[in-house]
Amino acid sequence: MKIAFFNTKDYDRFYFTQENSRNEHSIRFIETHLNENTVHLITNETAVCVFINDCLNANVLTSLKSKGVKFIALRSAGFNHVDLATAKKLGLVVTRVPAYSPYAVAEHAVALLMTLNRKIHRAHNRVREGNFSLNNLLGFDIHGKTVGVIGTGKIGQIYSNIMLGFGCHVLAYDVKTNAECIAAGVDYVPLNELLSRSDIISLHCPLNDETHHLIDESAINLMKPTVTLINTSRGKLIDTKAVINALKAQKISLLGLDVYEEEEVLFFDDFSSSVIQDDVFARLLTFPNVLVTSHQAFFTQEALTQIAHVTLQNISEFEQNGVIQNGVDNFT
Ligand code: NAI
Repeated sequence: MKIAFFNTKDYDRFYFTQENSRNEHSIRFIETHLNENTVHLITNETAVCVFINDCLNANVLTSLKSKGVKFIALRSAGFNHVDLATAKKLGLVVTRVPAYSPYAVAEHAVALLMTLNRKIHRAHNRVREGNFSLNNLLGFDIHGKTVGVIGTGKIGQIYSNIMLGFGCHVLAYDVKTNAECIAAGVDYVPLNELLSRSDIISLHCPLNDETHHLIDESAINLMKPTVTLINTSRGKLIDTKAVINALKAQKISLLGLDVYEEEEVLFFDDFSSSVIQDDVFARLLTFPNVLVTSHQAFFTQEALTQIAHVTLQNISEFEQNGVIQNGVDNFT
């Protein structure tokens, strides 16, 4: 199939070219994001491949349809950036990669926790400058702490197992329990109990109407002031302004974020020579006890290999057998 790949970086080009080594598909890599201003770049492609910060609103979908596009391959698990109702009305097939490497994300959540706790990022900068002081680098043992895991699906389960391996007591909250987590020693408790008892809280549930601003002022008020909060899931799970107020009032001890409410305009691009216009984000970066990475939890060799494989397989299945594999509709 002829595919226009939007929003591509070197690593996308490498892994997708490798996966398409037999030239099963004709791929045209485009650097820019897909949106209303760039949709005209499509020439004769029947498929587009896009990422989470591309815009697939009703106008873009209508333009895609009028240009002869039939297939939208999301190279992500998330699909909240697609107007699915319009896609369905227009008869556009939308597929995704439901799971690529849950280990990548769970391990990154642990990396954020460990880096923040032992202040590795600060220590690294100090040592490079010849400053070998230990002042303000004091951490705590993870062993023996109570860890609250919100969402015990694929990623939350792996994260729970890692924390159990550290010798933690793991509490969990989910709308449905996971029998394997219970067998491993995880205790399910109501959300408020998890919030009030946990030393470390890690978010692994999806963003939906119920979970939007799950961590707001009232949730923070239930937490211990010594809490470490980690979010590798979706930015809008956290009310960022409430979290900033809590950081100022020293009601949150450590905050690790791989996702941010308004990340679409910032993440994945280099703004190191620009002035950041988002004052809320800029304020977050001023706290010494906050660590932010730019949605890189998924970013491992294994995950990129799997993303390329499943994305192209989804397209091949449709082209060769008319089968919609990993169709987004199946998951809504
Ligand atoms: P999953 O679908 O396997 O698990 C999600 C779990 O959340 C399920 O057990 C579900 O029952 C639970 N859940 C749903 N609604 C809930 C609620 N209201 N309260 C508590 N739990 C609820 O998903 P998976 O693969 O574990 O991914 C989790 C999240 O991780 C994704 O939704 C995505 O937002 C995020 N993610 C982040 C990445 C990154 O690079 N930072 C990469 C991939 C996923």
